Amino acid sequence: MKSTSSLTSSSPNNYDIEQEVLDRYQAGAKVQQPSLCCAVEYEDKYLEILPQEIIEKDYGCGDPTLYISEGETVLDLGSGTGKNCYIIAQKVGEKGKVIGVDFNDEMLKLSRKYQSEIANKLGFNNTKFVKGKIQDLALDIEQAQHWLKQNPIESIEQLSQFETECDRLRQETPLIADNTIDVVVSNCVLNLVRPQDKHQLFAELYRVLKSGGRAVISDIVCDQDPTSKILNDPELWTGCIAGAFREDNFLKMFEESGFYGIEILKREEKPWQVIDGIEFRSLTIRAYKSQKQASSDFQQAVMYKGPWKRVENEYGQSFYRGEKSMVSHETYETLTAPKSPYRESIIAVSSQKKKLEELATEPNQSNGKTSCCSS
Ligand SMILES: C[S@@+](CC[C@H](N)C(=O)[O-])C[C@H]1O[C@@H](n2cnc3c(N)ncnc32)[C@H](O)[C@@H]1O
Repeated sequence: MKSTSSLTSSSPNNYDIEQEVLDRYQAGAKVQQPSLCCAVEYEDKYLEILPQEIIEKDYGCGDPTLYISEGETVLDLGSGTGKNCYIIAQKVGEKGKVIGVDFNDEMLKLSRKYQSEIANKLGFNNTKFVKGKIQDLALDIEQAQHWLKQNPIESIEQLSQFETECDRLRQETPLIADNTIDVVVSNCVLNLVRPQDKHQLFAELYRVLKSGGRAVISDIVCDQDPTSKILNDPELWTGCIAGAFREDNFLKMFEESGFYGIEILKREEKPWQVIDGIEFRSLTIRAYKSQKQASSDFQQAVMYKGPWKRVENEYGQSFYRGEKSMVSHETYETLTAPKSPYRESIIAVSSQKKKLEELATEPNQSNGKTSCCSS
């Protein structure tokens, strides 16, 4: 597999991408910016309780909220005004939980402004907004800023103390702890992360998900690598263009980070923008966090239904249409679990080990009076 690392290591060095993104979306929280990201049609019934200000300042490019179920704990990366979070709050209901994370004070202020009003309308409060960078989800930036206020940095020694404090915060009071999230969603944000932080971003996404949890991500992708003219334009960076993944590499980033069942849920046919002949469009994908490592104890059996002649899983195991394939217990669970992405394509054939055990404990049929056919 071709590594994506070469595509995520270089960064334009004539401007600070993160600062540009921060500035542009601070402004976008104050005044609606029609040029930022593409129009999305959400399900009307979930917009009824949302204030106009939140509906209008929508900078998403897809609708990951379509793939959420009741009772789930959902993390929204780059939550902006909170629109996706408030839609999801209605879908997960009272037993579910929604956490929006953003690093932008103006966006956080706006998303929090309507929190109690929306909770009153819903009859419960299941949503919170926290300050963090999506590529460093363990660090609670509000706590780090509080420490900084009391310990301003004026020397290299103090800088080192601050770094030690950040590590302590990450370990002792992580903003988002390991294995705690059912679904990570994001709407038009991953592209905005600096190239050199993109691998860490995917590692963080994986870390916070529970085993078997999933990521549902809408983002802007492109069909060819952006030209250096595009990469060096700060306006195109903050406008969700220059940082777009090439679409094949976007899926590979999930694969390289350990996800399985990676699938394109929606690919807009019409490009959102075409620049220098390169098409930029919205793509929504889903990917699952691996469950336990597969053992070599192949005692369960499954059958692939088709229509393809042969398919292959992330671990290189092939399944041939209509043929029984022996798999480990872990793979059997992954393929046949109720929420498995493979479930519709797979027939669970009963456990071979169980069959042998059942045969061993069955009374000797040939002596049984119930046997109608024994000779
Ligand atoms: C294009 S807007 C999308 C907002 C929202 N998801 C929506 O659908 O309207 C990008 C948002 O991500 C935030 N953001 C960008 N980079 C971020 C990062 N590295 N960490 C946290 N938030 C980030 C911005 O502040 C902004 O609110």
